[in-house]
Amino acid sequence: QANAQWGGRFAGGPAAIMQDINASISFDKALWRQDIAGSLAHAAMLAKTGIITPTDETRIREGLKDIAAEIEAGTFDFSTALEDIHMNIEARLSERIGEAGKRLHTARSRNDQVATDFRLWVRDAIDGLDAQVTALIETLCARAMEHAATPMPGFTHLQTAQPVTFGHHLMAYVEMLGRDRGRLSDARRRLNESPLGSAALAGTSFPIDREMTARALGFDRPTANSLDSVSDRDFALEYLSALSIMAMHLSRLAEEIVIWCSAPFSFIRLSDAFTTGSSIMPQKRNPDAAELIRAKGGRITGALVGLLTVMKGLPLAYAKDMQEDKEPVFAATDAAALSLAAMDGMVRDLSVNAQQMRACAGSGFSTATDLADWLVQVLKLPFRTAHHVTGRLVGKAEARGVDLSQLTLQEMQAEEPGITADIFDVLTVEASLASRTSLGGTAPDNVRAQAGRWQKALAAE
Ligand code: ARG
Repeated sequence: QANAQWGGRFAGGPAAIMQDINASISFDKALWRQDIAGSLAHAAMLAKTGIITPTDETRIREGLKDIAAEIEAGTFDFSTALEDIHMNIEARLSERIGEAGKRLHTARSRNDQVATDFRLWVRDAIDGLDAQVTALIETLCARAMEHAATPMPGFTHLQTAQPVTFGHHLMAYVEMLGRDRGRLSDARRRLNESPLGSAALAGTSFPIDREMTARALGFDRPTANSLDSVSDRDFALEYLSALSIMAMHLSRLAEEIVIWCSAPFSFIRLSDAFTTGSSIMPQKRNPDAAELIRAKGGRITGALVGLLTVMKGLPLAYAKDMQEDKEPVFAATDAAALSLAAMDGMVRDLSVNAQQMRACAGSGFSTATDLADWLVQVLKLPFRTAHHVTGRLVGKAEARGVDLSQLTLQEMQAEEPGITADIFDVLTVEASLASRTSLGGTAPDNVRAQAGRWQKALAAE
């Protein structure tokens, strides 16, 4: 039997397999709130412009509210034969209120309807994720304050480079997440235009008021081109791009957590609440949440690449390919929300093995740069010469199996006669850290100031 909404020119109904490939209700029912909000705004506008009567508008409004209550209560019967959320709701409306329900779709198409619903959905998702990123930033700042002076080895190439503080390291992620918030809010600003009233692709002959529906739905303005309005999905792509970059940041922190809590590193310990055991090896404490955050980053990027690939090469305007825009966006949103929540919990709970981190921060000749800098600042050697002298001293210490600070003054002076006992003051981890007072450097006072600035800025939002 032909489709109830568009079957007028059809004698027969779709094959079962046609219905299966065509229907989107299984996932786009997630748009029901946005769909009803869009229809309420559209109906109010139709009445105000005289396209439908006030009586019809009232009946539509009440009918839609009842439908919202049915969906909320779980009594709404979603039908695959009705394809998608738009036709499910519209058909139910006509079933409930008759003629008036059949007038709702005047001057509208599912093409502008779905574009509107989806923008509203992504806008809500951005607001929800922004609150979660902000919460994670706050947690990182609090832990950074606590560990502003806790030494840890800083790495390049994952080789010990120079001492930094654990707080400084955490604040690096705060900066990344701050930019992630910026990207999300940029995407939100650009997506906040209303496609509603673009109809199928060409606009409409009815005297509609697109400014009115745009305002009612919290959009800044209506979109300017009806073809663009129904065929553009770059708001979703931009959102997925921002999520992919954020997920990449979370994945890097997750990877570091995996490394830090491994036995050879033992820099941190995750709480029982954020660790799992092994079914065979009784000693294991596995960082599964961190590993899954790392993996979800891959899937979020997959969602971006998937949708980009769906969209490339589509001729204007709407094509059914675009129905496949929702699942990647929904899945990426869930993955991002879960990742942010799990990361917040892990960071909040983790305990720091300060002794172990301090020991590693001082090993591997981590203060060799400080020695070279001293030769430049005190003896006025050119940096390149100082680098060579220090390199020879490192070689000497390594051959003897000792640290730089364990070389004797005589051994040092054999390489550079100008060296005095003062040199030993700059070879400690604490001296190295305290000296890094350049803007953005790791000196504990800098770290405290940076975390404090973030906390103040967030409190003022
Ligand atoms: N379910 C469709 C989607 O998600 C709604 C738009 C359908 N439009 C159409 N002309 N068939 O894209």
